[in-house]
Amino acid sequence: MDSLINEIKSAQSSAELEELRIKALGKKGILTSQFALLKNLDEEEKKGKAKELNQLKGEFEREWMLKKEIIATEELHKKLLEEKVDMTLFTPSKGVGSAHPVMITMERIVDYFVSLNFAIKSGPLIEDDFHNFEALNLPKYHPARDMQDTFYFKDGMLLRTHTSPVQIRTMEKETPPIRMICPGAVFRRDYDLTHTPMFHQVEGLVVEEEGKVSFANLKYILEDFLRFMFGEVQVRFRTSFFPFTEPSAEVDISCIFCHGKGCRVCSHTGWLEVLGCGLVDENVFKAVGYKNVSGYAFGLGVERFAMLIHAVSDLRAFFESDLRVLEQFR
Ligand code: DAH
Repeated sequence: MDSLINEIKSAQSSAELEELRIKALGKKGILTSQFALLKNLDEEEKKGKAKELNQLKGEFEREWMLKKEIIATEELHKKLLEEKVDMTLFTPSKGVGSAHPVMITMERIVDYFVSLNFAIKSGPLIEDDFHNFEALNLPKYHPARDMQDTFYFKDGMLLRTHTSPVQIRTMEKETPPIRMICPGAVFRRDYDLTHTPMFHQVEGLVVEEEGKVSFANLKYILEDFLRFMFGEVQVRFRTSFFPFTEPSAEVDISCIFCHGKGCRVCSHTGWLEVLGCGLVDENVFKAVGYKNVSGYAFGLGVERFAMLIHAVSDLRAFFESDLRVLEQFR
């Protein structure tokens, strides 16, 4: 027994210590086998011997636990030393990442409106028919639904085709005045040079007491915004149709590549279409229970802005994660 205790004291590792535990108390251990012999003794002898064995066992276990703790602390210490990171070590540069061009553009757009006190709102990517269509004055079977090739789920839910449902969700929750933008991803079944199934929009909405907001306000802010984004361009409003605005307009800027002379990018028209807007349709206010208010709204595609600003002709370049392309926007 004394030699067992000495062995514990000189053990160097938890593995060695474990071997000693097995040697003493394992199935064929020294102490275990002595306990096994007890059954051959008569009552009187058994009592005495059992007491003695239990004392030895107790002593062994105490010493063993003590040593176990010491070794565990030593081993932890050793491990921490081994894993120490040398912060002064020289490593060749791995290069620095950069924001994605679409996100850079998005941030610039958001910055403009935040500086004018617009709040940033967000909504779910998986929408229901009511918020994506119905409440935006797009009832079932309305032909304008075809403008947006929708991804549907089996249960009738859908991937939002535009950020306009966030207008509805915000108006449902809040009372006017409202002054918001909603930047976010949207989804459509589309894939070619200028369309990807996922892209980003920024939606804007302003709602005030009736009569306090006019088309002139909308026109002013969008002209100023477009010059902030594209520099000294001409801006033109063309009458158009959106179910959720009346009157509606599409907004063009003079072509930033040919300055209005006509080129391939502007299809020789001298103009580039950049966003949609209008005064909020009365039916939209009805859907959210607003009365005696007026407002304007606008929506734009962030990738389209990024393509124009960076003169990228194939939208898919943004989404192929080719570092040779992305590094040019740093
Ligand atoms: N939701 C439209 C789309 O995705 C964009 C849009 C146009 C939003 C006019 C508006 C708006 O708020 O007034 O095509």
